[in-house]
Amino acid sequence: MSKTSKNLPAILGGTPLVTADHAAANHWPLLGEEDEQAVLRVMRDGNLSFHPVVQELEDDYRALTGRRHALAHNNGTAGLLAAFFALNLNPGDEVLLPDPCYPCNRHFVRLFDALPRMIPVDETQNYQPTGTSVGANWGPATRGVLIASPSNPTGSAISREELGAIVDTARRNHGFVIVDEIYQGLTYESGPSTALELADDIFVVNSFSKYFNMTGWRLGWIVVPETHMRGIEKLAQNMFICPSAPAQYGALAAFRPDTLAVLEDRRLEFKRRRDYLVPALRQLGFRIPVTPQGAFYVYAGCEHFAPDSGDFAVRLLEEAGVAVAPGLDFGANQPERHVRFAYTRSLEDLQEGVDNITRMLRSR
Ligand SMILES: Cc1ncc(COP(=O)(O)O)c(C=O)c1O
Repeated sequence: MSKTSKNLPAILGGTPLVTADHAAANHWPLLGEEDEQAVLRVMRDGNLSFHPVVQELEDDYRALTGRRHALAHNNGTAGLLAAFFALNLNPGDEVLLPDPCYPCNRHFVRLFDALPRMIPVDETQNYQPTGTSVGANWGPATRGVLIASPSNPTGSAISREELGAIVDTARRNHGFVIVDEIYQGLTYESGPSTALELADDIFVVNSFSKYFNMTGWRLGWIVVPETHMRGIEKLAQNMFICPSAPAQYGALAAFRPDTLAVLEDRRLEFKRRRDYLVPALRQLGFRIPVTPQGAFYVYAGCEHFAPDSGDFAVRLLEEAGVAVAPGLDFGANQPERHVRFAYTRSLEDLQEGVDNITRMLRSR
């Protein structure tokens, strides 16, 4: 790494940094004095019994979203997806996923000797699978489809119509639809929405990691149809016992009105960053045919600058001090032509990063 790169902004990570002036970056901004005391008290008193507040969390979640059957559990979406696939997949089964996608989701499929079957997506379908592409890829071994909306790495949100068409296709084939809504609430063109508005037989995973900015607390939930509740509950109990008690107490603050106000400020700050970064990158020559509608990522075509995005990412890091993720991290669909930018750093950092890239490209 070059000397300069140490001091320069990284535009990479998927962990949201604090945005407004609510707190320092490595401290959860939403934890007020009272919440902090509650978390500390649990640790000091050794009151780490099974699930002290899960029920309350579930009730809060239901009050906020109107959805029933929420099951809070630890390990973010990661643990719950593992439990879901353990319950639904057998060796040799297939699950349809978009390419590019968040890599761990396809790794979870492999964990159970099943196969991720990748559907290439691009700007012509807003980087999301469609009813037609899901139907065309559904084979005899396919058990279901997993999509993320908004997506990592593209920031694209699936339309209601296409999601409906995917659900219809899955129903016709007696398969499941599971939607990873971890970026729910981080949308910039429309309000928060959930696939559950569409149908009750959809599975949804979510966590406190992104919108609530609590990645390190490792707390997530899954919403399942009533018929599947007991199965997933039993498995999750066997696999994880219960969510960590301090995390549960911390998360109780998440649904309070004052917290939700902070989160709205934060969302607007992400929008400001997106609205700066996307045109700035386009101006430099990156190909961004569709403005990302959510999350905090820009999946940008870099073919104009280099034949291989991996080499280009190394150059950006060494010569401009800017870290991006090469397309290879997200799949096999033209990965050499893409890099992913994350706008998880401050606007000033992003501006500095863009200035550095500009200088680097001019010095070619
Ligand atoms: C689409 C998507 N799903 C899941 C995760 C992991 O989330 P969690 O922290 O809840 O395990 C990430 C993290 O970046 C992600 O981008």
